[in-house]
Amino acid sequence: MEKRMSFEIMREEVDGIVCHYLPEEDGAQKTVLRAMNYSIQAGGKRLRPMMMREVYRLFGGAGQEIEPFMAAIEMIHTSSLIHDDLPCMDNDRYRRGKLTAWAVYGEDMGTLAGDGLMIYAFETAAKALPMTDSPEKVLRCMEILARKTGVYGMIGGQTADVELTGKKIPMDTLSFIYRLKTGALLEASMMIGAVMAGASEENVRKVEQMAGDVGLAFQIEDDILDMTGTTEEIGKPSGSDERNEKTTWVTEKGLTASYAEAEALSAEALAILRELPGSNPFLEELIRKLVNRKK
Ligand code: IPE
Ligand code: IPE
Ligand code: MG
Ligand code: MG
Ligand code: MG
Repeated sequence: MEKRMSFEIMREEVDGIVCHYLPEEDGAQKTVLRAMNYSIQAGGKRLRPMMMREVYRLFGGAGQEIEPFMAAIEMIHTSSLIHDDLPCMDNDRYRRGKLTAWAVYGEDMGTLAGDGLMIYAFETAAKALPMTDSPEKVLRCMEILARKTGVYGMIGGQTADVELTGKKIPMDTLSFIYRLKTGALLEASMMIGAVMAGASEENVRKVEQMAGDVGLAFQIEDDILDMTGTTEEIGKPSGSDERNEKTTWVTEKGLTASYAEAEALSAEALAILRELPGSNPFLEELIRKLVNRKK
């Protein structure tokens, strides 16, 4: 009888790996350490580390060398959320069903907790070095992690997002913003899974393309949920985009067309996945379900 791993069981397993790498909360800097750990432990779907490991498995990876990178990507993602919620950015008080870092620890500690997590991620990723037989692979993944986080990735996307808040945005610019602010970290997640498993350059490029489509679909769905979900369901304030007068996929295309585009992008991603060697039904199911998620 086929036994399918449920998403919740997988989430808990991944959560254990991520939390294993959190820093101790002591020393004169314990407030920032508490704010960092609070934000990770608040919850979240753990999609990025989950997808990283599933792509690693798709290419035959079976070791623990992937685990420091799983923790690292969740730290970077969480740091992006902490900063995204700051009063100078989206000004949101709730995240993952709890008060966001700045609302508990103050804006100063919120800012530092985001910085702290973003860089602690690299200290954590470096722990893969003694666990692998290929330090080159680890260095390549560090480069991917840095590039997809930085000005050519998530931070670049957030820059344009924040700067163009309240303004009309052409669709190609909006697509660029989404592919960077949200797509880049999903690309990093899946590319690192592929590189650590020893995938060929050609396949790493295909994985990047697949993850980019998943990322754009993911952000379009996030816009839909901002408008249609409740604060309880999504664990963050619904209607945030409207309050901030953001131009989103939904303001430009409407709900129905936005949903159809997210579905089409997801189907494109699945078509790329099927072209890759090996198969991973859990990953396939996960990508398919993301466009219909309720949180
Ligand atoms: C939220 O990401 C931010 C976006 C990129 C849209 P997630 O929806 O993955 O948030 P968590 O990790 O589950 O809290
Ligand atoms: C998410 O954009 C992008 C990043 C956090 C990098 P949003 O501002 O739409 O994300 P949420 O809705 O606050 O999670
Ligand atoms: Mg934002
Ligand atoms: Mg936001
Ligand atoms: Mg949003």
